[in-house]
Amino acid sequence: SKEPIRVLVTGAAGQIGYALVPMIARGVMLGADQPVILHMLDIPPAAEALNGVKMELVDAAFPLLKGVVATTDVVEGCTGVNVAVMVGGFPRKEGMERKDVMSKNVSIYKAQASALEKHAAANCKVLVVANPANTNALILKEFAPSIPEKNISCLTRLDHNRALGQISERLNVQVSDVKNVIIWGNHSSTQYPDVNHATVKTPAGEKPVRELVADDAWLNGEFISTVQQRGAAIIKARKLSSALSAASSACDHIRDWVLGTPEGTFVSMGVYSDGSYNVPAGLIYSFPVTCKNGEWTIVQGLAIDEYSRKKLDLTADELSEEKALAYSCLS
Ligand code: NAI
Repeated sequence: SKEPIRVLVTGAAGQIGYALVPMIARGVMLGADQPVILHMLDIPPAAEALNGVKMELVDAAFPLLKGVVATTDVVEGCTGVNVAVMVGGFPRKEGMERKDVMSKNVSIYKAQASALEKHAAANCKVLVVANPANTNALILKEFAPSIPEKNISCLTRLDHNRALGQISERLNVQVSDVKNVIIWGNHSSTQYPDVNHATVKTPAGEKPVRELVADDAWLNGEFISTVQQRGAAIIKARKLSSALSAASSACDHIRDWVLGTPEGTFVSMGVYSDGSYNVPAGLIYSFPVTCKNGEWTIVQGLAIDEYSRKKLDLTADELSEEKALAYSCLS
């Protein structure tokens, strides 16, 4: 039988953590035949709640779950982990300046980067979920120089899945028949949900989404703003931010990264830019990628029209500003 994989979830006592850890323990993230050992990290004020989650994991008697480490010690949390899902962070509170939130998260991600670099398993794959996700991932990368940049990513798969969902609702087709939407850029409201390469499986073969929707005003307007603003709409409705969809998308992200994307399908991941599509190198930017043998590759050669170009640049500009703000917090 397979050796267990150690999966770290930081912020495990929080909302997303509560939805995510049972998914991992059931094999949703790494496969139904893959044993796991869960490492759950949170901070001392959440220690009691974290222990409650650990009790529930024991109570659920998950056959794949071979062990649980619940801790507030960063080193213990990071030791030997093969996959790290970084959900913990400092939330923006009323009246706080953007710079103050950034500064808190920069110091958290700097410290956790060092712990991962020193104590995680070689070739550990890192997914940053906590906001500002792209910039937290960039800080993590900068302060864990021995972790290959290919191993550090941030979550935009939720936005990607939201885009698939909107197209499926609009066309009244199965969401599993829609593919190859793209989220470009930041996991923020400047992200660009792009359907120019998306298709739908129909009885008459694969058809472009643009042709089937046949309403450019909707695709260039309401569709984009709905996906961009979906997080805010969930908060308004639930009085809490997205949790089950975020957890499920985090599982999709890691599963596809580790086990590969289906032939002919690409997904969106926030990864370190190499300058593809004239996106400035050195940002963590969401691109269309395919995955094989545990590695992602940016899909090359997609046509970018003038309208899209502006949107790709706008979200890159925001990320450059965030990067500068993060660096100003370091000094
Ligand atoms: P939450 O507030 O319920 O949970 C966050 C947890 O992190 C808390 O238990 C807190 O104690 C813990 N924490 C704080 N500092 C920590 C540290 N230094 N080390 C370890 N744990 C720490 O928040 P929720 O709803 O679970 O969201 C978590 C994060 O995910 C937020 O930053 C949120 O904005 C982000 N998010 C990102 C999405 C994405 O698509 N990238 C989607 C939805 C949320």
